[in-house]
Amino acid sequence: MPSRSILAGIGAYLPERIVSNAELALTVDTTDAWIRERTGIQQRHFSAPHETAAFMGTEAAKAALADAGALPSDVDGIILATSTPDQAFPATALRVQAALGVTKGFGFDLAAACAGFIYALSVADSMIKCGQAKGVLVIGSEVYSRILNWQDRGTCVLFGDGAGAVFLRAGEGTGSDQGILSTHIHAQGTLGDILYVDGAVGQPDKPGHLVMHGREVFRHAVTRLAEAVQEALDANKLTADDVDWLVPHQANRRIIDAMGRKLGLAPERVVITVEDHANTSAASVPLALCQAWKDGRIKRGELVLLEALGGGLVWGSALVRM
Ligand code: UT7
Repeated sequence: MPSRSILAGIGAYLPERIVSNAELALTVDTTDAWIRERTGIQQRHFSAPHETAAFMGTEAAKAALADAGALPSDVDGIILATSTPDQAFPATALRVQAALGVTKGFGFDLAAACAGFIYALSVADSMIKCGQAKGVLVIGSEVYSRILNWQDRGTCVLFGDGAGAVFLRAGEGTGSDQGILSTHIHAQGTLGDILYVDGAVGQPDKPGHLVMHGREVFRHAVTRLAEAVQEALDANKLTADDVDWLVPHQANRRIIDAMGRKLGLAPERVVITVEDHANTSAASVPLALCQAWKDGRIKRGELVLLEALGGGLVWGSALVRM
């Protein structure tokens, strides 16, 4: 019987500096009221220079390993989802590997923007199921504050920095349905120009800033995420009634509420962190998951539905029995 990927531990890291909407409004042509009404965001964390994707990913990974009661020697591989790596190479995952003192296995970064954590979870789950690894750290770590265009008030107020991680451990297939039940990932490259970064290290003098056509992304998000959620339920012959928790990508409170309503979930069953973290891209789902895990809302045995969508366009869902 193939192994299942058990979410053995969850961890997170947020930069110390908190920036409120009011503080942003001192330098950006915006208001606290606009940001709250349109997005639900009240504040975000911004990194200090030392709080890079590798630094924050390492801290989140340490917390996930501690939560699992696991050691660096239990780690066979690290998959780190980020659009804001420390360097073009080595992979940020390998900076984390070194910082953790992991001396074996594989590590690589995965670029799938805000859906990066779901994509990384999907890859890690496949590797565990096929027997290639027994312990995998899946990390989302982002410093979007470094790629924001401060002249564009339509985007610079929406994002924050942070990292979240889970440690996946191969289960023995005891017959229980604990672990990742399914993942579904999708991409539509023809929509690449509605949300992108207009540069990279490979481009001359153009490190790049985030560009988004918000309304179009919003429209696709509501449709695609609803499809991905339904796909996850159908694949497992489950209904929305079986879901204990929705842990959605934290981009906009209005999208999150729409997803909760579509599923018919009571609002208190939807984990929301967008007001405190803003959109932390690949870190947003594991940060939210960690918050509800640490504060005791999500418990072992419960069914958790994760979903995210980001620039690419990329989107996906994962269904997990904790
Ligand atoms: O993580 C990846 C996935 N991303 C998403 O899912 C994001 C999806 N999109 C959204 O969440 C929303 O489209 C936004 C929050 C980005 C924007 O909300 P919106 O309701 O679509 O607003 P809008 O862009 O259509 O702008 C409405 C108005 C405009 O003014 P006019 O032209 O109507 O006079 C903007 O200039 O709001 C103005 N505006 C602002 N005003 C104050 C835009 N940004 C701001 C701002 N402060 N920061």
